[in-house]
Amino acid sequence: MRLLENNIQSYDFYIEKENMHDEIAKGLAAPVKTISSKFLYDHRGSELFEMITELEEYYPTRTERSIFNDKIQEITLAVGDVQTLIEYGSGSSNKIKALLHHFTSLKEYVPIDISRDFLFQSSLELAMQFPHITIKAVCGDYTAPLTLPLEPSGKKVIFFPGSTIGNFEPVDVRNFLMKSAQLLDEGDGFLIGVDTKKDLHTLESAYDDKKGVTAAFNLNLLTRMNRELGANFNEEQFEHLAYYNVEKGRIEMHLESQCDQQVIIGEHEFSFREGETIHTENSYKYSIDEFQTMALECGFRPSKVWTDVEEKFSVHYLEK
Ligand code: TRP
Repeated sequence: MRLLENNIQSYDFYIEKENMHDEIAKGLAAPVKTISSKFLYDHRGSELFEMITELEEYYPTRTERSIFNDKIQEITLAVGDVQTLIEYGSGSSNKIKALLHHFTSLKEYVPIDISRDFLFQSSLELAMQFPHITIKAVCGDYTAPLTLPLEPSGKKVIFFPGSTIGNFEPVDVRNFLMKSAQLLDEGDGFLIGVDTKKDLHTLESAYDDKKGVTAAFNLNLLTRMNRELGANFNEEQFEHLAYYNVEKGRIEMHLESQCDQQVIIGEHEFSFREGETIHTENSYKYSIDEFQTMALECGFRPSKVWTDVEEKFSVHYLEK
C-alpha cells in the first residue's frame, strides 16, 4: 500500500505464533472441547459480527455508543489534555472517529490490531480526516508485550471499547490490566467499555437473536475449518447454543452436536456424543462495583463511570 499522507506511520509486529490446525486439534482433543474465539473472525465471521452489532437484541454496541454521545462533555473533561491515545483492537476505528473531534489536545493516535488490511485502510482514512494528528498504526497482538512507538512525554490514554475485556478469562483480565498499568505513567488513563450484569432474558437474547445471525456467526467456524483445514464437519448436525452461566457471570457460546458422530480434520479423528459441545466463546459481565474493585487491585484508581439509565452498559475511566 502507498502511504499518501505524511501524518501516518506504520509498524508491523505481528507474527503468527501457532498454526491454526495444531491449535484447533489440541482444543478438540481436550476432555472439554474448546476452540479459541479468535478463529470465529475470518472474513465471513467479521462480516457476520458487524451484523450482530446492529441487531435489535444486541444492546451493547448501541448502548455504548449512546453513552459516548450523551456523556461526551464529561468524558472529554476526564480525559483532559491527552496527548497520546492508544486503542486496543481498533478494527475499523469506527468508534474513535466520533471522539477524536473532542480530544483537541491530541497529537498521536496509536491503533493496534492484528487485522492488517483493516488497520492500514482505516488509518489512512483517519490520517486524511485528521491531518493534525499523527496516526501510528501498529499491526500486532495487544495482549502480547509490545514496545509502542510513543512520544516520550505527555498524557497517555488507552481506549478499549466494546466490552472486549469480557471475552478474556478473569485471570487474564487481571494480568492485562496490570500490564496496561505498566505502560502508563502517573495520571495517565484507561477508557474502557464493560458490559454489566442484568436479567437473563436480555443477556441471552443478545447472543441468540431471532434472525439467527449469531448462530450463523458461531456455525461459520465449522465452515471455516472445512475450507481451511479440510475438515468434514456437517454444519447441519451442530447447533448454536448460548446461555448465561450465573455462577461464573458469563455468557457461554457453544456448538452442540445433534447426534453421535465422527469428524475428521487432516489425520485426526474426533468423536462427538449427542449433546456434546465445542465451547467457542465466553463473554463475562461485570457489575460496576466488581469491575472497579478489580481495577483497583490491578494498579488503577477507578475515577469515573458512565452508564445509560438502565445500566445496561458501562464506560469506565480509570486513572493510574
Ligand atoms: N465483546 C463483545 C461481547 O462479548 C462482542 C462479541 C464477541 C460477540 N464475541 C461475540 C457478540 C459473539 C456476539 C457473539 O458481547
